[in-house]
Amino acid sequence: MSLSPVEQLKRQAAERAAALVRSGMKLGLGTGSTAAHFVDCIGEKVRDGLDVICVPTSERTRAQAEGLNIKLSTLDETPELDLTVDGADEFDPKLRLIKGGGGALLREKIVAAASRRMVVITDASKEVEKLGKFKLPVEADLFGLTATARQIELAAKANGCHGPVSLRYSAPGARFITDGGNAIFDCDFGVIPDPDGLAAALNAIPGVVEHGLFIGLATAIIIADPAGIRVLGDLSA
Ligand code: 5RP
Repeated sequence: MSLSPVEQLKRQAAERAAALVRSGMKLGLGTGSTAAHFVDCIGEKVRDGLDVICVPTSERTRAQAEGLNIKLSTLDETPELDLTVDGADEFDPKLRLIKGGGGALLREKIVAAASRRMVVITDASKEVEKLGKFKLPVEADLFGLTATARQIELAAKANGCHGPVSLRYSAPGARFITDGGNAIFDCDFGVIPDPDGLAAALNAIPGVVEHGLFIGLATAIIIADPAGIRVLGDLSA
């Protein structure tokens, strides 16, 4: 099957990350079109004899991995992972990310936090000087969504962010529901002047289950662009 130019870049980043994997490792498998290339690479290596155990970050990734005969586990059985490889919607020079475009941010963050290393794989289109071009996904409990949206707006304002907070829909009239049974708000704040401050303020809102700012989690970012592969951070960390 021939890949479009951008899919080829995603595949190159995924192959570079797959080269970090050794038999015996416990892996977190991310979600999204870029992470799906990594899962395919692991599937090929498993077919060739690689012995790894993997925790998927979504039901979608679980189904893909099962189809490739990748050995799966849960964080209850395997609470510490060696390496998680995942995509991102945006990243900045400090390895801070926006994630959740695919709606899997909660499990993605839980799995990344349980991993010694998190390597992000991406094409160069996701690189920004300051986070916020991509609407920030915020996962919220279904109870009291309007009150939670208001609290998000107030927390954002206190951190220099303004813009609409919109409930995500998967079809007209059908709210998008995450694997965990929650809703997602997409927050169109534009540039986020203080991602750390905003992250802390969102964490303090009771109705917010988790948000898509991943700070202090990624240890390296593999960026594929037509000129070649670049790495931010430390792949061995
Ligand atoms: C899913 C995510 C994905 O990693 C993010 O949306 C990037 O996806 P893609 O590789 O398809 O661009 O956070 O919740």
